[in-house]
Amino acid sequence: MQPYVITIASEKGGVGKTTLATNLAIYLKALREDLPVTIFSFDNHFSVDQMFRIGEKQSPGTVYDLLLGRPLEQLVQTGEFGVQFIASSLKLAELRDRMADPGHLATCLAPAGLEGILIIDTRPDLDEFTANALYAADRVIIPVKDTPSLENTRRIYRFFEHHELSKQALRVLPCLIDSRIRYANGPFETPYQLLKAYALNRGYRLMEGFIAKSPKVESLNTNPEGRIYPVLTHGRSTEVHLQLAHLARQLVLDAQACELTRLDLWLQARDEAALRRQQQHRQRLERLDWTCLACGKAMPAAGLDAFYLEGGNGSPAGFVESTCLTDMVFASVYRSRRQQDPALAEMFLESALRGYFALTREGGQELRFCRLDDEGRILSRKPVDDGRNLFGRARSGLVPFWQQLKPDSFLLMRRGEPGRAEELLGHRAYGAFARTRELVSLQLAKD
Ligand SMILES: Nc1ncnc2c1ncn2[C@@H]1O[C@H](COP(=O)(O)OP(=O)(O)O)[C@@H](O)[C@H]1O
Ligand SMILES: [Mg+2]
Repeated sequence: MQPYVITIASEKGGVGKTTLATNLAIYLKALREDLPVTIFSFDNHFSVDQMFRIGEKQSPGTVYDLLLGRPLEQLVQTGEFGVQFIASSLKLAELRDRMADPGHLATCLAPAGLEGILIIDTRPDLDEFTANALYAADRVIIPVKDTPSLENTRRIYRFFEHHELSKQALRVLPCLIDSRIRYANGPFETPYQLLKAYALNRGYRLMEGFIAKSPKVESLNTNPEGRIYPVLTHGRSTEVHLQLAHLARQLVLDAQACELTRLDLWLQARDEAALRRQQQHRQRLERLDWTCLACGKAMPAAGLDAFYLEGGNGSPAGFVESTCLTDMVFASVYRSRRQQDPALAEMFLESALRGYFALTREGGQELRFCRLDDEGRILSRKPVDDGRNLFGRARSGLVPFWQQLKPDSFLLMRRGEPGRAEELLGHRAYGAFARTRELVSLQLAKD
């Protein structure tokens, strides 16, 4: 089973995210010694490192390496209190493009099969990094300390809606609550009661309890040793100690009750998608009869130098050898012969690798040969006044092919890399081909 991921997130800085994330790791470990607990941070401060690093040992790698795809096992170190951690990095901004896919972190985490609980501390920003941490999370704790930070919670809810993630994962937690304050007026006596009511009123779920503001806890960051001390060892007299212990108990129960974690489900979906892609690829291979549509010669299913052709509705489909197709196009479009103009033939074949060709029968009548760029935009159209060379008796293989095509449809062609044309039917390449087909359809419909 993949780890139960707890992400601590809020767009507001200074609401107690990092303090909560690091201390929770310790309380979880204290509660269940056998439970592996791992933590890392996407923030560019080094609180995690200061709290958990043992001695001055050099880190084997950082979160930067994790996001570059280095195996997690190589990066996790066992730190103080038995908490495992991955060192922080100042270079994360370099990876922003890579993080544009919110599933990137999940891709990096899944192969390791890290067990237990993973805590992710985030930056006070709903940027690509936080998005990735939200996307992988089973539980998102959103610390709020006042009404403005509560208002910000809405953006995290929106993110979940946008990505069709279950909002059941989200929990608001009032933090840095001054327990001394008592309101003289109104229905609520304390800031906690007020925030809780505001949150419930907006439809947000809350963790049980809150984290009080404590001068003692605040002082744990500041000491001559340059370390950060945990509440468990240095703040046991505070109410925060009991509050963290209570939170940790809730989270252990939640993790235990979770049968399939978000990463498990994500992996399942990814495997299913891969299987679906394989099946679709096989179907594309199976529907072809693997002879050159022009000359009828048998073609191997590998090592082709050929054009792939497909009708505007995705059918019919087949391959024509590159030389055969060049012959046909030269005869009926350029009114020349491939052998007469080898330089032009070379150019034609070369440009066919970086764009598409289409035969269209606009208005159901006139046959035209179109050249398209790599994005499927029609660049030029040439009339083909004598279609016989293309689909005449001499090229009988293409006649039934053409006849199957609806009168208003078209035939899209692309040359595959020489010796590897069959790769055009692979997931990515065929996806691009199919998208181009849709684009051509739209352009022809507009004309
Ligand atoms: N329970 C608490 N009581 C008092 N001060 C706290 C408490 N939790 C955090 N702080 C202090 O508040 C500041 C912000 O906390 P931090 O955890 O860094 O928030 P964030 O990660 O959201 O920016 C820090 O100076 C920290 O020491
Ligand atoms: Mg922080």
